[in-house]
Amino acid sequence: MKKWLVLALLAIGVLMAQQNEYVGVNKCKMCHNKTKSGAQYKVWSASPHAKAFEALKSEAAAKIVQERGIKTNAWETPECVKCHTTGFGQGGYEIKDETFWNPAPDDKDGKKAVKRMAGLQNVTCEACHGAGSGYKSMKTMKGLYSGTIEPASVGLTIPDEKTCVKCHNEESPSYKPFDYKTYVAKIAHNIPEDYGK
Ligand code: HEC
Ligand code: HEC
Ligand code: HEC
Ligand code: HEC
Repeated sequence: MKKWLVLALLAIGVLMAQQNEYVGVNKCKMCHNKTKSGAQYKVWSASPHAKAFEALKSEAAAKIVQERGIKTNAWETPECVKCHTTGFGQGGYEIKDETFWNPAPDDKDGKKAVKRMAGLQNVTCEACHGAGSGYKSMKTMKGLYSGTIEPASVGLTIPDEKTCVKCHNEESPSYKPFDYKTYVAKIAHNIPEDYGK
C-alpha cells in the first residue's frame, strides 16, 4: 500500500474515533431555557418536533403501518423512527426492549442510559444542530456565539434547508409540500436582538 494511503486511512480512523456523541435534549435545556436569551427549550417544547415520537403512537400512525403491511408498532419500526427521533442509525436513538427501559433500581448505568435515550426521542435540538458532545461546554458555546470558534470544528451545525429536507421529503407517508421560509418561521427560536455578545 502507498504511504499516503496508509496515512489517509489513519486520519479517517482518528476522525471516526472523535465522532461526537448525542447527549440528549435535557443537556441543552440546562442552559437554553432563560427568557432573556430566548428560552429555546421552551419554544421547542411547544413545537410539533417535541411531539414527533408521540405521533407514532397515534391512530393515524397505526393506520399507516397497517396499510404498508408492517407488523411492528410504528414507534418500534426503523422506517418510522428514523425521522421521528434524533440521530437514529447514527449513534443517536435506538429501538430498545422492555429490559432496557426498566433497569433494576440499583443499576446506575442502566438508569443513565435510559435518561439519555429518552432525551433522543422526538426531533430534538441535536437532530438539527448535530451531536452535542463536542460543543456543549460553556466555554465552547461562548466561543461559538462570539465567533472565535468555527461551528463545524466542534460539530455544531447552523441548520439550513438541507437539514430539514432530510426528513421533510416524499419518503414521509404524510408528506406536505415543504417551503423553507414558511416552515422555519414556524419554529423560530432566536436569541433576542438586544441580548449581549
Ligand atoms: C453549559 C451551558 C450550555 C449548554 C449545556 C448548551 N449551550 Fe448552547 N449556548 C450556551 C451559551 C451561553 C450560548 C451563547 C448565547 C447565550 O448566552 O444564550 C449558546 C449558544 C448556542 C448556539 C448559537 C451559537 C452561535 O453560533 O451563535 C446554538 C446553536 C446552541 N447554543 C445550541 C445548543 C445545543 C443544541 C445544545 C445541546 C446539545 C446546547 N447548546 C447546550 C450555553 C450552553
Ligand atoms: C428543526 C430544526 C431545529 C431544532 C429541532 C432546533 N433548532 Fe435551533 N436553530 C434551527 C435553525 C434553522 C436556526 C437558525 C439558523 C440561522 O441562523 O440561520 C437555529 C438557531 C438556533 C440558535 C441561535 C439563534 C440566534 O438567534 O442566533 C440557538 C441558540 C438554537 N438554535 C438552539 C436550539 C436549542 C437549544 C434547541 C433544542 C431545545 C434547538 N435549537 C432546536 C433549527 C433547529
Ligand atoms: C429528524 C427529522 C426532522 C428534521 C431534521 C426536521 N423536521 Fe420538521 N418535522 C419532523 C416531523 C416528524 C414532524 C411532524 C411532527 C408531528 O406533527 O408530530 C415535523 C413537523 C414540522 C413542522 C410542523 C408542520 C405542520 O404541518 O404543522 C414544521 C413547521 C417543521 N417541522 C419545520 C422544520 C424545519 C424548518 C426544519 C429544518 C430547520 C425541520 N423541520 C427539520 C421531522 C423533522
Ligand atoms: C422521511 C422522513 C419520515 C419518515 C420515514 C416517516 N415520517 Fe412521519 N412525518 C414526517 C414529517 C416531516 C411529518 C410532518 C408532516 C409532513 O410530512 O410534512 C410527519 C408526520 C407524521 C404524522 C402526522 C403527525 C401529526 O400529528 O399530524 C404521522 C402519524 C406520521 N408521520 C407517522 C409515520 C409513520 C407511521 C411512519 C413509518 C411508516 C413515518 N411517519 C415515517 C417525516 C417522516
